[in-house]
Amino acid sequence: MQLVVYSSKHGSTKRCAEMLAEMLQADLLNAAEGLEVSLDKYDVVVLGSPVYVGQLLKPMKRFLEEHRTALQEKKLGLFVLCGFEERAMEIMEQTFPKELTSIAACKGYFGYSYTNLPFFERLLCRMIGADVGTEKLLTEEIAAFAEKLKQEAVR
Ligand SMILES: Cc1cc2nc3c(=O)[nH]c(=O)nc-3n(C[C@H](O)[C@H](O)[C@H](O)COP(=O)(O)O)c2cc1C
Repeated sequence: MQLVVYSSKHGSTKRCAEMLAEMLQADLLNAAEGLEVSLDKYDVVVLGSPVYVGQLLKPMKRFLEEHRTALQEKKLGLFVLCGFEERAMEIMEQTFPKELTSIAACKGYFGYSYTNLPFFERLLCRMIGADVGTEKLLTEEIAAFAEKLKQEAVR
């Protein structure tokens, strides 16, 4: 069985996780509600988070700590959403723990969204040169990730 775990502040990562879970026919779990959840029945687990100020969201970090041992025994997929497109894979390597990036079967970048932001975050984003109000979700990347993971899962 397969599980997609996500963390999301303004919803774009959640939407990507929902698309992926549907493509994979996988269960979907919000990391914030997943500390007590057993991963025993899953052989494939996908973890997805946006990057905020250079870090994964806190609920995802907590989930990774809580399930540290179990996750290392799964077939793993990792994905990020982040504004710095050209550095996305490097950012993934810097934000997810090395013990997971080193064993992940699939790694993906699914885009970004700078929409629906409250005033303070809009201000912060303008300061780092982000194109506030824009969104780019890479649905083809999500489909390719799902296909690759399906192939990896039967290996
Ligand atoms: C306040 C704020 C800080 C951000 N910081 C970063 C960052 O440090 N690096 C980056 O690549 N993207 C950054 N982003 C872009 C987010 O990762 C991107 O908007 C993502 O799609 C948000 O996901 P969510 O809608 O699931 O919360 C930031 C966005 C916001 C609003």
